[in-house]
Amino acid sequence: MKAFVYLGPAMKAVEDRPKPAVAAPTDAIVRITKTTICGTDLHILKGDVPTCKPGRILGHEGVGVVEQVGPAVAAFKAGDRVLISCISACGKCAYCRKLMYSHCTTGGWILGNSIDGTQAEYVRIPYADTSLYPIPDGADEDALVMLSDILPTGFECGVLNGRVQPGSAVAIVGAGPIGLAALLTAQFYSPAEIIMIDLDDNRLDVAMRFGATAAVNSSDGQALEKVMKITGGRGVDTAIEAVGIPATFEMCQAIIGPGGTIANIGVHGAKVDLHLENLWDRNITITTRLVDTVSTQMLLNVVRSRKIDPMLLITHRFKFDRILDAYETFEHAANTKALKVIIEAGSEL
Ligand SMILES: NC(=O)c1ccc[n+]([C@@H]2O[C@H](COP(=O)([O-])OP(=O)(O)OC[C@H]3O[C@@H](n4cnc5c(N)ncnc54)[C@H](O)[C@@H]3O)[C@@H](O)[C@H]2O)c1
Ligand SMILES: [Zn+2]
Ligand SMILES: [Zn+2]
Repeated sequence: MKAFVYLGPAMKAVEDRPKPAVAAPTDAIVRITKTTICGTDLHILKGDVPTCKPGRILGHEGVGVVEQVGPAVAAFKAGDRVLISCISACGKCAYCRKLMYSHCTTGGWILGNSIDGTQAEYVRIPYADTSLYPIPDGADEDALVMLSDILPTGFECGVLNGRVQPGSAVAIVGAGPIGLAALLTAQFYSPAEIIMIDLDDNRLDVAMRFGATAAVNSSDGQALEKVMKITGGRGVDTAIEAVGIPATFEMCQAIIGPGGTIANIGVHGAKVDLHLENLWDRNITITTRLVDTVSTQMLLNVVRSRKIDPMLLITHRFKFDRILDAYETFEHAANTKALKVIIEAGSEL
């Protein structure tokens, strides 16, 4: 089969690989029909993710059709259409029993990281019963690809951890796919204000179309003043960090109001200062989280009922034989205006 392979920092290729086989009784082999690229795949290609070794097939998002199942798989059979979760969960370890699947002792985020992933014609999915979801009849598969990772991440790490409330003021720093997923799912709770902060006017325009109440371009250094003006000097009740650099986490500390919650989503590679000299008396909460994908079934229901439309996040489409072009487009999002790219099985060249 053809597969997209990480070969070491800044090195990548499409290679011929053997089709994966069932290795444990709880495995399923899934034929990928659609996959996508995540910002985290770009982190891997930069060499930022040491658990991902050269030779690894990337990808932790996608939908497909079950080709074969191991003897212990009870919930799926060959021919079933499935959504793949970015998190593999055994369902039995102490963390899984607490619904903290991201820390499953033999799973968690392994797909396209420590085991081969979904940017290939076929993928082996461990713990298929607890890591795949059946696709409802009539569901739009492009939309469901957004449920493997970005919608649960925006919702769980940003909206749930950030305790977004009706009538509250929310700021989301970073209007990439993850920040926009937080924006879409924050609206379940009817906050009064959702202020999007980014450096990219195109992404801020998209955010306004997705339901933001204000857009702040922080490149002029005036973001704090603008947020304080919008919130009557109080600051926000929830500040969601969806970038992963010191400047944006510091921005969250500056704009948070008394009693508020800073919910970090971004993957940080450098240390960030904690300004307790300003925050010690402000009754704030800071949360961190690796997505657990405990909300996937709920989000499937929400998408099916058309309460949110993840199709809004899809900007480009490629067949699998053009996956290198898809990476090129996604890597240059500022010029190409890419948000999420769909990569579909098949060829166009
Ligand atoms: N916690 C988790 O489980 C989890 C899961 C998936 C992704 N992530 C992380 O979430 C983060 C966001 O992911 P994404 O795919 O949306 O990333 P992205 O790179 O597409 O988007 C980041 C956005 O931040 C903006 N930005 C950059 N610097 C800024 C600054 N100084 N001020 C304001 N805006 C700035 C960029 O213009 C861009 O729009 C990444 O760090 C990613 O690794 C975390
Ligand atoms: Zn991801
Ligand atoms: Zn487990």
